[in-house]
Amino acid sequence: MQGKKILVTGGTGYIGSHTIIELITQGYSVVCVDNCINSDKSSLMSIHQITGVSVPFFQVDLCDSYETKKIFTAHPDISGVIHFAALKAVGESVEKPILYFRNNLDALINVLDLSIQNGVKAFIFSSSCTVYGEVLKSPVDENTPLQAAESPYGRTKQIGEQIIEDSVKNEMTQSILLRYFNPAGAHPSGLLGESPINQPQNLVPVITETAIGKRDTMTVFGNDYETKDGSCIRDYIHVCDLARAHILALSYIFNGRQKVPVEIFNVGIGNGLTVLEVIKAFEKESGLRLKYKVGPRRPGDVVAIYSDHAKASKELGWYPQYNVNDIMRTAWAWEQKRQQR
Ligand code: UD1
Repeated sequence: MQGKKILVTGGTGYIGSHTIIELITQGYSVVCVDNCINSDKSSLMSIHQITGVSVPFFQVDLCDSYETKKIFTAHPDISGVIHFAALKAVGESVEKPILYFRNNLDALINVLDLSIQNGVKAFIFSSSCTVYGEVLKSPVDENTPLQAAESPYGRTKQIGEQIIEDSVKNEMTQSILLRYFNPAGAHPSGLLGESPINQPQNLVPVITETAIGKRDTMTVFGNDYETKDGSCIRDYIHVCDLARAHILALSYIFNGRQKVPVEIFNVGIGNGLTVLEVIKAFEKESGLRLKYKVGPRRPGDVVAIYSDHAKASKELGWYPQYNVNDIMRTAWAWEQKRQQR
């Protein structure tokens, strides 16, 4: 795949920036676009430090179709698009549903439309396990029927998948929908990790921010669920494992192995951990005692979900290389590095 050009939307964000590193390492050329409302351009500097490559960057709001079109005009040789750009805070989406529908869906429609018009061969969509809703049992495979989404954020992912299924029908463009479980951790170099502008709400950054003292304490949202210790179960996947899945998805299409217009793959490591187990893993890796209290359940949370990723292993050749201890070690190293800055 040497030299093929890939447009990464949301490329200064957490998963986008780690994926850019993997793309460059695999010999792709990359163009990055982001509106930088929840990330900043410093991740491009980290990408340069790690890979030695300066990635062309457009600061554009993808809801603006005129500005978005300029990217494709400047780079008519884009072969693949990885579409990460989206708002992703579940709680905020409950408070501001219109913002989420407008932002996540308008941006997707513009980028998808331009990708199809410009003969882009591979369109990879950043979907989420949240599309499964409250599942009856785990692990979930890709044939698990989707339940009603628990939040407007989740609904934007369900609708996004449907928009792609309805639109990607011609022979030129093929699409892969990657349903991520819970991405966490940081680049092993210690030079890149999650650094959102808005205060993070996801479990792992909340843990590391509490440990470093940015927060006095943290809350475990509920210990009265029907799980082994009463807290919710999720499938935490290292961001570098997740990044690699995107490169394998591109190769799958570019090598002509995809036989249908749209394929779906779960990307999770298949190991369900409770919130309290994740906290214990952090304490073990860091040698610290975390200050936390148990609070009420968080609206919109599902009780338990973890993946069956057999399809990704069989078809894409994707296998996770990191476990929860690696996630905690790299996330903690990154938090300490940020503190030094
Ligand atoms: C959800 C989606 C996921 C999506 C992500 C985007 C589901 C099942 N998953 O992840 O696909 O990518 O939003 O943000 O819908 N927790 C605490 N205290 C905290 C923070 C979290 O106890 O301060 C708990 C939560 O209740 C949950 C677990 O930690 O049980 C993970 O939460 P979080 O990291 O926010 O991710 P999800 O909500 O699972």
